[in-house]
Amino acid sequence: MKILLLPGDGIGPEVVDAARAVLDAAAARFGLDLTYETRAIGGAAIKAGLGPLPDDTLDAALKSDAVFLGAVGTPDLDHLPRAERAEAGLLRLRQALGVFANLRPARVWPGLEGAGPFRPERIAGADMLIVRELTGGLYFGEPRGIAADGQSAVNTLRYSAGEIERVARVAFEAARGRRRHLTSVDKANVLETSQLWRQVVTRLGAEYPDVRLEHQYVDAAAMLIALDPTRFDVIVTENLFGDILSDEAGAVAGSLGLLPSASLGAGPALYEPVHGSAPALAGRDVANPIGAIASAAMLLRHTARHEAAAAAIEAAIGATIAEGLRTADLAEPGRDPVSCSRLARRIAERVAAA
Ligand code: IPM
Ligand code: MN
Repeated sequence: MKILLLPGDGIGPEVVDAARAVLDAAAARFGLDLTYETRAIGGAAIKAGLGPLPDDTLDAALKSDAVFLGAVGTPDLDHLPRAERAEAGLLRLRQALGVFANLRPARVWPGLEGAGPFRPERIAGADMLIVRELTGGLYFGEPRGIAADGQSAVNTLRYSAGEIERVARVAFEAARGRRRHLTSVDKANVLETSQLWRQVVTRLGAEYPDVRLEHQYVDAAAMLIALDPTRFDVIVTENLFGDILSDEAGAVAGSLGLLPSASLGAGPALYEPVHGSAPALAGRDVANPIGAIASAAMLLRHTARHEAAAAAIEAAIGATIAEGLRTADLAEPGRDPVSCSRLARRIAERVAAA
């Protein structure tokens, strides 16, 4: 399997190294043949004079079996026009790969119930999968732009029935492999795109009588994720709502640094932790590598189709958490945090021994 590594900005390179160490351990343990190439993206590519998504990076991505990205975004480039910013590289890559279904699992790991701001008894056992539409909606809709006089701006929210149906199908299928409960999140009391969303999802639901389908407005869903996260199994929603709700789910899990993602379409899939480039943490070996390492597990599950290797990585993550190892984002007051690389080494050792 040819894996393209895109370390990107901030803590991206550190968490990609961490994930690679664990992938190598899994490859050795399960006899997988993984080869890697590395290319530039985001701020790192802009600073090398190449623009946020160099042609050579896109070519390599299209020729790979899977793309593994760290993070993009650098505050010193935030003044650039939207299309030239670091984030534009990632958005163009998602679009070019056609990865319309973004799977963002979020769970409260045993031992981390008290790590975040929520009452442990409310969130214990929460285990949800957010399926975020990733290549449509406000992120890509045309027309868009700021008026020449700088006094107004426009973005377009457009969804076709086909775009809704294909991501909803991924969510229904995922629910079948889990607890058979799907919550579709929209704003159908206000937005026409959401009314279409609800119609299409409801119609598709007839093909999945074994999956319990419910609809929630996005404001209510945001509240319920905070108040009662264990009520959710799979959530399916449009691009911007999914962006927002997945960060909230990160807070429920205890740290955004824990959340992995897989973005799936017809071609090579894209794997990336949900967290950003965290410039304040960059280069200090203090980032939480678990989101990236769990993304590597998703790569083995969805691209390599090696469930045992994926499960071994997830079990190793759980065991190191149970053992009490915490990076700074999760460390309890008075307890020494471990470094990013140390935590990755420990997880890799456990995978090797699995
Ligand atoms: C995410 C990020 C990206 C997004 C940014 C970096 C463009 O926040 O993957 O959630 O908004 O999709
Ligand atoms: Mn986001």
